Amino acid sequence: MIQFRHVTKSFGAVGVRDVSFICPPGTVTGFLGPNGAGKSTSLRVLCGLIRPDSGSATIDGVAYAQLPQPGRRVGVMLDATAMHPGRTGRETLILAAQVLDVGDARVAQVLDVVGLDRAAIGRHAGTYSLGMRQRLALGLALLGDPGVLVLDEPANGLDPQGIRWMRTLLREYADRGGTVLLSSHLLPEVEAIADHLVVIDQGTIVADATPQELQGAGGTSVRALDPSALTAALVASGYQPTEAGNGLVRVQATTEQVGRVAAAASVVLTELRPIGHDLEQVFFELTGHGASA
Ligand SMILES: Nc1ncnc2c1ncn2[C@@H]1O[C@H](COP(=O)(O)OP(=O)(O)OP(=O)(O)O)[C@@H](O)[C@H]1O
Ligand SMILES: [Mg+2]
Repeated sequence: MIQFRHVTKSFGAVGVRDVSFICPPGTVTGFLGPNGAGKSTSLRVLCGLIRPDSGSATIDGVAYAQLPQPGRRVGVMLDATAMHPGRTGRETLILAAQVLDVGDARVAQVLDVVGLDRAAIGRHAGTYSLGMRQRLALGLALLGDPGVLVLDEPANGLDPQGIRWMRTLLREYADRGGTVLLSSHLLPEVEAIADHLVVIDQGTIVADATPQELQGAGGTSVRALDPSALTAALVASGYQPTEAGNGLVRVQATTEQVGRVAAAASVVLTELRPIGHDLEQVFFELTGHGASA
């Protein structure tokens, strides 16, 4: 589990302010925000590269710098372009494997997982395309078989096929109980895999919810065979529905919440949808910027 507690860091004016959130095991948390919002700063604080002015960020309750074998606990990918250009992909992984004290068998496994073939790993990393670097960097992050992954814009430079590959890899990793925190400034990149979204804007967390909750932030519009029975059931459950005519009922609740109330009251629904918004719209409203490409 990753936990940020009131992390504040200023570089003069901007930076991050009072950033708090949790990434539970078994989930992929998408850390979303426009350029300059404070994503990388937060992740660098988490990985002990920046000391916050106040607050703390921990992994399984411990600061990164205090972890006994950090590379075995947390896979980090902050800057895929930062690897040594004069080493081959294979050398890069073998050196890292020595530092982490994992065997060559693990190097072979990881190469398989990240999809770099023999020809590619024999070439100098300096000649790699951005997408190949991302694959190698992800391989480095996975090498120590960590339970936590921290990835800054991992989809950068990947083609659509590469993005789908990474999505599957991270989903399976989380489904096996891993904790994933990945940042992106593009909603579509995380929308498909994240089961938890934390949105940051101008250094401040502006949303922390499931994609469904965010979509449902505008409430739910629902139609029932018997609207009065539905309204009564919703009121009995503590909601404040309004009847909008034509049997349509609006209520400040998620579609799931409304569906559950209806099911419990045996009310037949003929329509159930979040009001107005798709996720992108919500993201724009939260950040107030043209943050998607
Ligand atoms: N070392 C630094 N010195 C001065 N200002 C910095 C430094 N690092 C970050 N900042 C400032 O902090 C703010 C947050 O930057 P950060 O890199 O965390 O944003 P980001 O969300 O990762 O953006 P991007 O999507 O462009 O990567 C920005 O205004 C940036 O200019
Ligand atoms: Mg960044």
